[in-house]
Amino acid sequence: MSFVALSAIILIPAALASGPADYAGAEACRPCHSANFTSQSSTSHAHALAPSSPPQPGDWAFGAGLQAITPVTRVGPDSYREDGLTWYRSLNGYAITLGQHDEKGVVFRTLDPAARFLTCFACHSTGPLSLGKEEEIIPHELGVRCEVCHGPAATHVRDPSHSRLRTPAELTAVAMNRFCGQCHRTDSETGEELTDLRDPRNARDQPLRLAASACFLRGGGRLNCVTCHPPHQQVDQSASSYDVRCQSCHRKLVHRQQVAGQACVSCHMPRIPNGPYLTFANHRIATYSPGNPILPATPRGPR
Ligand code: HEC
Ligand code: HEC
Ligand code: HEC
Ligand code: HEC
Ligand code: HEC
Ligand code: HEC
Ligand code: HEC
Repeated sequence: MSFVALSAIILIPAALASGPADYAGAEACRPCHSANFTSQSSTSHAHALAPSSPPQPGDWAFGAGLQAITPVTRVGPDSYREDGLTWYRSLNGYAITLGQHDEKGVVFRTLDPAARFLTCFACHSTGPLSLGKEEEIIPHELGVRCEVCHGPAATHVRDPSHSRLRTPAELTAVAMNRFCGQCHRTDSETGEELTDLRDPRNARDQPLRLAASACFLRGGGRLNCVTCHPPHQQVDQSASSYDVRCQSCHRKLVHRQQVAGQACVSCHMPRIPNGPYLTFANHRIATYSPGNPILPATPRGPR
């Protein structure tokens, strides 16, 4: 990853000029927005990064554990290790970390040109990172919290009626893909932007895949990430809960086959395996045949 891309990630999504003092932290929002505070605090976003606590290995636990938790360990004054063993929910136990080959883990210098660990912390935390003694990475606030989406809010907290915050709902659908895609896009293993819709590593690339859907392309800009994911709530894992969102546009449906009683997304957003233990819902909404959850059976639009 180039230096330019790195600085873009570290500064997201705040204005370029903002520093630590411009951030108030989620706790500061609680007195006035207690409902949003309480529900957002129980999301995977809020728990995307935490210090490890015994018997957990490593110094840092990356991932809220909905799918997996990867330990990251500081191994010297200037280096970190992504541990070789990750805890997977589907296994309820440890196995080799996705992208690695054995249990040893991979070590990189903190200031290595690809800045692998700085980008890990940047996507899993809120506000600007800083470097402590001997290049220790110090996140400003753990997890993906309020100011990732609403911008630095210290001024708003002091004087809410004169300093209005923005919400991503003000963005067009295309701009929201870009906004959420600052983290939900680049392949975290390589830092690359993968664009091949047939590549299973793109399973987790929700903005790219959604943008290739007929619903998105022909929906007149009405379909975006928060249509289906209320931003302060934990992701809903009950497949049938999404039916009402589909039916808001698809009121009358004539299927040639029997579909009653099954959730729309179970057929039209099938889960794609990414490695042995992770799966991701295919955000390219379309019709799939049972053996191929990646490429639509009747592809329209990009191949
Ligand atoms: C002292 C009370 C107070 C605190 C603390 C506070 N807010 Fe607010 N907030 C308000 C009020 C009042 C409004 C409505 C302002 C208006 O409509 O003019 C508001 C509006 C908002 C909006 C809606 C903007 C819109 O127009 O849709 C967002 C987003 C927001 N606050 C986020 C935050 C975040 C994030 C924090 C913590 C970092 C925070 N607020 C802290 C009082 C507060
Ligand atoms: C600063 C980076 C960042 C931004 C910006 C961001 N996310 Fe996330 N998001 C994450 C991370 C990290 C996780 C993984 C949480 C975990 O460990 O499970 C995540 C997880 C999620 C999940 C699934 C919950 C889970 O357990 O995996 C949804 C849904 C989601 N994000 C939606 C959004 C939407 C919608 C937006 C834009 C409005 C957005 N995110 C913006 C970093 C981000
Ligand atoms: C470009 C931003 C970004 C970077 C860099 C990044 N992550 Fe993530 N990470 C995410 C998002 C977004 C998710 C939510 C899952 C998804 O992709 O849908 C996530 C999820 C995870 C999970 C939960 C399991 C999974 O794969 O969904 C773990 C564990 C994790 N990241 C660890 C790391 C580690 C360790 C690093 C650095 C080596 C790292 N991440 C770098 C954005 C990032
Ligand atoms: C993943 C992005 C994201 C995060 C993180 C986030 N918000 Fe929001 N917020 C939104 C969006 C999008 C809206 C627009 C309303 C909607 O679509 O539900 C919003 C709306 C709001 C509003 C306006 C009133 C309302 O509920 O619609 C307030 C206040 C607010 N957020 C406060 C917070 C606070 C406090 C936190 C942290 C505890 C937080 N938000 C975290 C995306 C986010
Ligand atoms: C914002 C409105 C909107 C929403 C919400 C929506 N769609 Fe669509 N969808 C469309 C439009 C518009 C088309 C294109 C129709 C056409 O071209 O005849 C479409 C096309 C489709 C197609 C055909 C795709 C193809 O490539 O052949 C399927 C299948 C589909 N939608 C299923 C769903 C499902 C399942 C959901 C919920 C998870 C959903 N849609 C949500 C608007 C929407
Ligand atoms: C059991 C799997 C299954 C379920 C469940 C299902 N569908 Fe379908 N759907 C299909 C198949 C296969 C087709 C294409 C053949 C056909 O029309 O029967 C299709 C076609 C469609 C189309 C038309 C695509 C086109 O070519 O124009 C739309 C829109 C659609 N489904 C939306 C939905 C919605 C919304 C739901 C939930 C209420 C749903 N489907 C539930 C399998 C399913
Ligand atoms: C039409 C509805 C719909 C839209 C729009 C949508 N999602 Fe999802 N999303 C889902 C469904 C369904 C799941 C699977 C939930 C489950 O079963 O756990 C999901 C899951 C996720 C997850 C968790 C990983 C996984 O695949 O289980 C993330 C992260 C995510 N979505 C991000 C996004 C982002 C970012 C956007 C915008 C680019 C977006 N979603 C738009 C329906 C949607």
